[in-house]
Amino acid sequence: MRTVIPFNDHWLYAPAQLDDQQPDSAFEPITLPHTNILLPHHNFDNAEYQFISTYRKRFTLPEPRRGRRVFLDFDAAMIATTVFVNGQLAGTHGGGYTPFSFDITDLLTDGENLITVRLDSTERPDIPPYGYVVDYLTFGGIYRDVWLRLVEPVYIRHVFARPQNVLEPVQGLEVDVTLANASEQAQQARVQVELEQNAGLQTETVSVPAGGEAKVTLRFPELPRMALWTLEEPALHTLSVRIVSDGSDAPVDEVSVRYGFREARFDKDGNFYLNGKPLKLFGLNRHQTYPYIGAAAPARLQRRDADILKWELGCNIVRTSHYPQSPYFLDRCDEIGLLVFEEIPGWQHIGDEDWKALSLRDVEAMILRDRNHPSIILWGVRINESGDDTAFYTATNRLARELDPTRQTGGVRYFRGSEWLEDVYTYNDFSNTIIEPDQTPHLVTEFSGHMYPTKTWDQEERAFEHALRHARIQNAAQGNPRVSGAIGWCAFDYNTHREFGSGDRICYHGVMDIFRLPKFAAYFYESQLSPDIRPVLRAATYWTMGDRSGGGNDPLWVFGNCDEIEVYIGSQLHGRFQPDRETFPHLPHPPFQVTGLQMHMTWGKEFSDLRIVGYRNGQAVSEVLHDSSGLPSALVLTPADTELRADGADMTWLWFKIVDRYGNRLPYATQVVSFELEGPGELIGENPFALVGGQAGLLVKAGREPGTITIRARTQRLEPASATIEVR
Ligand code: GAL
Repeated sequence: MRTVIPFNDHWLYAPAQLDDQQPDSAFEPITLPHTNILLPHHNFDNAEYQFISTYRKRFTLPEPRRGRRVFLDFDAAMIATTVFVNGQLAGTHGGGYTPFSFDITDLLTDGENLITVRLDSTERPDIPPYGYVVDYLTFGGIYRDVWLRLVEPVYIRHVFARPQNVLEPVQGLEVDVTLANASEQAQQARVQVELEQNAGLQTETVSVPAGGEAKVTLRFPELPRMALWTLEEPALHTLSVRIVSDGSDAPVDEVSVRYGFREARFDKDGNFYLNGKPLKLFGLNRHQTYPYIGAAAPARLQRRDADILKWELGCNIVRTSHYPQSPYFLDRCDEIGLLVFEEIPGWQHIGDEDWKALSLRDVEAMILRDRNHPSIILWGVRINESGDDTAFYTATNRLARELDPTRQTGGVRYFRGSEWLEDVYTYNDFSNTIIEPDQTPHLVTEFSGHMYPTKTWDQEERAFEHALRHARIQNAAQGNPRVSGAIGWCAFDYNTHREFGSGDRICYHGVMDIFRLPKFAAYFYESQLSPDIRPVLRAATYWTMGDRSGGGNDPLWVFGNCDEIEVYIGSQLHGRFQPDRETFPHLPHPPFQVTGLQMHMTWGKEFSDLRIVGYRNGQAVSEVLHDSSGLPSALVLTPADTELRADGADMTWLWFKIVDRYGNRLPYATQVVSFELEGPGELIGENPFALVGGQAGLLVKAGREPGTITIRARTQRLEPASATIEVR
């Protein structure tokens, strides 16, 4: 039987190229996922992560090998990896976003073994995305998980569950199983697929050539009705694939695979259909990078990003710009019902033939890794925004269709008239509206972004205009029947190269900041959530008399999913307002435009609090209050989780804000906040933190001991704040 051992623990790390003669004391102990350097959240150079580092791990096989093959599996490492086992080369891999494995069986000894990983994290022009400039950073490190896998000589390599007739009364399922044979003789293998809850069992025998692979398809033509994967109720199913020995049916190898029953297709009529029903795609792009830790975010942070996109930003789709992202992120998208457009690594540049071969390898690795995720509806098989290349893109499309005939392809372009070899015309539309498509299906895969970079501390007029641009463009996409939807640029601010961004190495293109805290534009997305999920009511205001040009607050934009709002100035009712359906006729929940406020407030005269009450079906369901004093009232500390795992790698956000007396952040609060941590954990980030924008975040990392972490924060003239996290 196979054994899969998590292999993230007890690594040694040195930020230099060290050989096996160097003592362990030249290294520091670390746990994966790992970033090759901790950095501030901005104002650093990409040169800082560009070096060759060495990872070392000593281990004895935790269980007898018993004739099995031993593989070392990397979920990813940035960007070129060379692995030695006991001083001998196990293999090399170029590419930072897709998994790779080495068969290390013949290099192992029965006693202690030494793994040495030489990791080149320089921006290698021979490896995608490099060769030209790139608008994002490729932080170094073994930043995803590593596993040790022991398998019998004949083992299961890939499984692809392909539901059939998903919407018919009688559904079916086909399961492609690829077996590998590492032995020197051809082998007969009996393959079994068993569905959960006795829904079916099939067995087939296949001959696997020596040193080769064989593929067999097991068919379940008639299934009891399988619950569908929908956005509201994303039912997931599991099946087991086994190799069983002849006679006894005892399993020799076994893997289980999670999959879903859903039909997803973009139609010539312009619509996207999920399970036969048209669905307008409404989403944002996500980069996988974080402040301080680069891309080395553990499962919990990955999963939270998916939750934020679905529950805080109301998205039904995310694009994994511009590369395959963490398996944990994709698993979470499956679990919560968030659609995904996943694409290969790259940015505008196409390299030489060797580079293209790596890119084709990325297409293959991405699809083999991810084709069982029901959330994924489209493969991006072009280098984002590259020029046409008929031969190359014919090959990427052919390969994608061969590996996964169930999904359509897209390929993101930014100039009209570019050659269309994919199934869906995926277009980055920076026209500040939605261009009329030349052909359908047409999906807008980016808009806004560099057209209107906006910081959390930007002046109010810019901050709400940023939100309104997203609202206008999404409105235009929703209103055009020939557009399948729009995915804005982007969810979160991200670190970048000097050729982009605001000079401090951040592209302030997010509807949230780099800490995943909202700007007004996030309020617009949130307000499109169904009121059945929760009521949303947010005023896009700093509520001042003089921050805007000319002073005052007219018009005041309010984002919410209620059908009416009441606006009070002090205790006086200013009026009742309906959603602005005239400006935003196609949005499910148009913003409210509140006007006439100068009646109550003129420059230099009385200025009072703002109170808004949201109504749904005549019932008050939500309320917001904004303080007219403008004064800091509290320092608020919010850990995103109250519990962490004592595995030395788990992490959560520690958000902090300076707020008015109603809890609204004060965007111009620039106090210094300092932190102390006690207990089995570690603070990651700038400490003290020179606050800007009134909000920011650090990360808290669990140690290896259970216990209580207590964090205390202090700033000038406000009460200290504290928070606790249990490490279990
Ligand atoms: C696009 C590009 C993105 C990002 C964006 C900024 O052209 O695909 O990666 O750079 O512009 O708006």
